[in-house]
This record gives sequence, structure tokens and C-alpha cells, in this order.
Amino acid sequence: MIIREAVARDLNAILAIEAGAFSDPWPRESFIEYIAGRHGRVTVAVAPDESVLGFAIVLRVVDQADLANLAVARGHRRQGIGLALLTEACAHAASRGVQTIFLEVRASNAAAQALYQREGFVATQRRRDYYNHPVEDGIVMAKALAPALEG
Ligand SMILES: CC(C)(COP(=O)(O)OP(=O)(O)OC[C@H]1O[C@@H](n2cnc3c(N)ncnc32)[C@H](O)[C@@H]1OP(=O)(O)O)[C@@H](O)C(=O)NCCC(=O)NCCS
Repeated sequence: MIIREAVARDLNAILAIEAGAFSDPWPRESFIEYIAGRHGRVTVAVAPDESVLGFAIVLRVVDQADLANLAVARGHRRQGIGLALLTEACAHAASRGVQTIFLEVRASNAAAQALYQREGFVATQRRRDYYNHPVEDGIVMAKALAPALEG
């Protein structure tokens, strides 16, 4: 498996993973915009046969970043793919001068919270009724990134 930046031909596979992962999936247009690189960085985990197994989306503003989306295809979970996408996203953000990376996760999403805690994210805030379909609180998590070494 490799992790690379997403290109237009990955769109349908990403949409299928998104639909299988979330009760309120993002619209196609958002992915088109992010893959075009205008407002975010989309990465995909790709198998040797070029099938897309998971993706991550990071939005960056100067020295802060937001892990806006992360999902792994259902049949490929618990194989380290989510962790690999998350680790790469944090390393890339650090290399661009990001000091803190944030994310928001459903209060009931124990799998994702376990992953984020393992990677060093800490819960900082609870946002009441932040999510729809179903309505649920959001947990804000944050991680301070070590500055990338130069040279
Ligand atoms: C959350 C998600 C991305 C994790 O991806 P993954 O590839 O299965 O995760 P990994 O295999 O890299 O797991 C790494 C570690 O995270 C933790 N973890 C992951 N899934 C877990 C689960 N279901 N239960 C408990 N811990 C879990 C474990 O510590 C795991 O290490 P281990 O397998 O050695 O015990 C995946 O479950 C997913 O796509 N969920 C639906 C979409 C989603 O909720 N995205 C996050 C939105 S904020």
C-alpha cells in the first residue's frame, strides 16, 4: 500500500468509501473542489492493484490545520490504513509549518477516537448537537505537531 495525493480518477472510489462510512456524506462537489487542491489536500491509500482503500482530507490555514475527513473502506479496516493516512497527514502538515492540527468526531465514534488518541490527539471541547443524521454532540480533538527538521 502507498499513500499519495488524490487525482481526479480517484473521485468515484473516494465517494464510494464516503457513502459506506458516513450517515451524512459530503456532496460530490466538495470532493471535486478538494481534489483540485483549491482549499485542501486529499490523500489516498492505494493498494498495489491501484484500488483506493481509504482517504484523508486536511485543510490548512497558515499554522493551523483541520483534519476534515478520514475514512477507510469497510472491508479494509483494522489493517493500519487509517493510522497510516493520519500519520502521513500530520507529518505533511508539520513539514508545512503547521503547529496544531484539529479535528471533530462524533461522540459515539469510539473507533475513530481510539485511533486519534493513539496518534496523540487530546479532546479539548464538546460541541452540543453539532452533527445531524442523527443529531449528536461533536468532540473537538487537537494535537500539537513537532516542527519538521530542516535539511
Ligand atoms: C476510524 C477509521 C478511519 C479507522 O481506520 P482503520 O484503518 O480501521 O484504523 P487502523 O487499522 O489504522 O487502526 C489503528 C488503531 O486505531 C484504533 N482503532 C481503530 N479502529 C478501532 C475500533 N473499531 N475499535 C477500537 N479501536 C480502533 C486501534 O488502536 C487501532 O490499532 P490496532 O488495530 O492495533 O488495535 C475507520 O474505522 C473508518 O473509516 N470509520 C468510518 C469513518 C470514520 O468514522 N471516520 C472518522 C471520522 S472523524
